[in-house]
Amino acid sequence: MLINFLLFLYIFEICQCLQRPIVIAHRGTAYLPELTLASQSMAHAYGADIIEIDVCLSRDNQLIVIHDIYLDGVTNVSDIFPNRNRSDVLNYVIDFNLYELLRFYLSTLNETIELLFGLNRATGRQRQLLIEIKKPEYHSKYNKSISSIVLATLNAYNLTRSSDPIIVQTFYIEELMYIRKNLGSQLRLLALMTWNYIQESSSDYNFYRSEEGIRNLSKIIQGLAPNHQLVVNYDPNGAIIGTTNLTKWAHQYNFSVYPFTFRQDLFSSNSFEELVKYFWHTVQVDGFITDHPDVIL
Ligand SMILES: *[C@@H]1O[C@H](CO)[C@@H](O)[C@H](O)[C@H]1NC(C)=O
Ligand SMILES: *[C@@H]1O[C@H](CO)[C@@H](O)[C@H](O)[C@H]1NC(C)=O
Ligand SMILES: *[C@@H]1O[C@H](CO)[C@@H](O)[C@H](O)[C@H]1NC(C)=O
Ligand SMILES: *[C@@H]1O[C@H](CO)[C@@H](O)[C@H](O)[C@H]1NC(C)=O
Ligand SMILES: *[C@@H]1O[C@H](CO)[C@@H](O)[C@H](O)[C@H]1NC(C)=O
Ligand SMILES: *[C@@H]1O[C@H](CO)[C@@H](O)[C@H](O)[C@H]1NC(C)=O
Ligand SMILES: *[C@@H]1O[C@H](CO)[C@@H](O)[C@H](O)[C@H]1NC(C)=O
Ligand SMILES: *[C@@H]1O[C@H](CO)[C@@H](O)[C@H](O)[C@H]1NC(C)=O
Repeated sequence: MLINFLLFLYIFEICQCLQRPIVIAHRGTAYLPELTLASQSMAHAYGADIIEIDVCLSRDNQLIVIHDIYLDGVTNVSDIFPNRNRSDVLNYVIDFNLYELLRFYLSTLNETIELLFGLNRATGRQRQLLIEIKKPEYHSKYNKSISSIVLATLNAYNLTRSSDPIIVQTFYIEELMYIRKNLGSQLRLLALMTWNYIQESSSDYNFYRSEEGIRNLSKIIQGLAPNHQLVVNYDPNGAIIGTTNLTKWAHQYNFSVYPFTFRQDLFSSNSFEELVKYFWHTVQVDGFITDHPDVIL
């Protein structure tokens, strides 16, 4: 009797696990300064399955965890280094060396890896790390192969296999092909997708979100991370009209689909819940990239 009961609990927990979406914490959580080690720790404690970070290179080729390629949004860089901006008045990470960047509340990829896998060991939880390689084409203008440096850093931590708790993503889809074929990485790869006019990269998302484009990515990547508006059609008032074919086609190639970015503060609480339910039950996405992992969970 007792054994049956315990078995029931165990099976129930497994089913619960399979029946809920994968939750990917974007920028850590919305409640603390984005991407700081504190914010990443909070996402870990909330139970996010995967913690997503973005990385850029400093002048001396160190991987800095930051959402944009410039510092102005999240630091008081112009107070501390008044004359380092470019003609657009922004201060770019690539113009500063690590020693200078340590003045700010930024972390390096190494620190994030050590924090998250340290928390995994300490808590017995297996959270994974999703690393967005920021603008590979921009970095290559400075003769820097950011992807090579990311893979070398991961290699130094013995994180090289598809079974390791690391996933790599970027908007520049041809870079994923380069990572798989030229750099020979076995890590799981996700293709970020948006609209061409946003100019996140030179990749042609009109092609890659077509059935033929998705087929072209099979055997290269393991999943898609599209803007949610590529997955669902909305009317001008933001009401859902229907589902695009993107998720269906992706599933035909066994890709996971994790749309971004689900931010509760952009919706009334009721409509946010309806939206999440629609993506989960009707579209049947595999998970959510969200600034509010606690709310999705
Ligand atoms: C910059 O910000 C840091 C941290 O918030 C603060 O300690 C420092 O005083 C600020 N420096 C200037 C020059 O504003
Ligand atoms: C940008 O740099 C110039 C000097 O190159 C400086 O005069 C100006 O104050 C800086 N602007 C800001 C917003 O920091
Ligand atoms: C990149 O390398 C090329 C060829 O070696 C060189 O001509 C160019 O000046 C370099 N560019 C930068 C930004 O260092
Ligand atoms: C990060 O780790 C790599 C590999 O161990 C090392 O080469 C690099 O210097 C480290 N960078 C920092 C900023 O600690
Ligand atoms: C690297 O990780 C693999 C499994 O993930 C393990 O079998 C191997 O012993 C590790 N190698 C080192 C040098 O730690
Ligand atoms: C499809 O993929 C192959 C191999 O990855 C590539 O050579 C080819 O250019 C791709 N086709 C298109 C239209 O992008
Ligand atoms: C989606 O797929 C259906 C059935 O395969 C097809 O009839 C429809 O035209 C497709 N829609 C688009 C926008 O490609
Ligand atoms: C997807 O996975 C199923 C089940 O593992 C397999 O039978 C099928 O061949 C896979 N499809 C592709 C396109 O890899």
